[in-house]
Amino acid sequence: MLYSIEKIKTALGCYRDAVKIIIEDLVPSTNDMGKEIALSERKENTLILAYRQDKGKGRMGRNFFSPEGGIYMSLVISETGLSPEEIPLITPAAAVAVCRAIEELTPAKTKIKWVNDIFVDGGKACGILTESVFSGDSFFSVVGIGINLLPQAGGFPDELRGIASSVYSENQAPAKNIMNQLVGTIVRELLDQIKLVPSRDFSEEYRRRSFVIGKDVKVIQNGISRDAHVVSIDDDCRLGVKYQDGREEFLFGGEISLRF
Ligand code: BTN
Repeated sequence: MLYSIEKIKTALGCYRDAVKIIIEDLVPSTNDMGKEIALSERKENTLILAYRQDKGKGRMGRNFFSPEGGIYMSLVISETGLSPEEIPLITPAAAVAVCRAIEELTPAKTKIKWVNDIFVDGGKACGILTESVFSGDSFFSVVGIGINLLPQAGGFPDELRGIASSVYSENQAPAKNIMNQLVGTIVRELLDQIKLVPSRDFSEEYRRRSFVIGKDVKVIQNGISRDAHVVSIDDDCRLGVKYQDGREEFLFGGEISLRF
């Protein structure tokens, strides 16, 4: 499947002229490329797409497996219009945008595993990594999204087996134009959802799509893991957890694991 700038622009709708699009065959990481573009202080939104990455990055310093056939995209946003306290909410807003686009265009049903993973059929089909760049007196957000579109021929690598899934399953054939449509729709939804961050009007949908509310999890912070029960997600997308000793807290960052 090949990208087409014109087809992506069609899916971008009202944002068709608001985003410059760059398509690469192989890059180390579209996020790293996005940060370089931001440092050059180009005052325009830029979407970087790559067919493959050989140093794809996830949160917590992890690698993101990025073979051909998946979607690897980074949107450099030159003016988010958000306050510094609101910037961390770009990732959950992006999660809502990705779920909406996938459900609009494919048969998949999506769920969000706090804070940045999109689950399909109980496995991780997409991850989101948002990075910030200060350049001169400008502030840029680089929103990186990696999607396993198709099942991996020969299976996922050992470390992802039983964890990763894909948007399409073995017996489903993707529409011919799906990569262009998904990329354009994700960016359109993302730019729409970011506008809702100041009012938190996207939070209700983030909560509704949660995969973790009501589940027992391990909370991992500073290398320490604690058993907890997920009670809620508030309008700031903080995770409300209750520990076994009865103590409750809202988590803004960190990581949870559903595997025991
Ligand atoms: C995670 O799962 O922790 C986040 C994964 C984010 C992966 C995407 S792929 C496109 C962009 N470029 C990267 O190097 N990472 C993000």
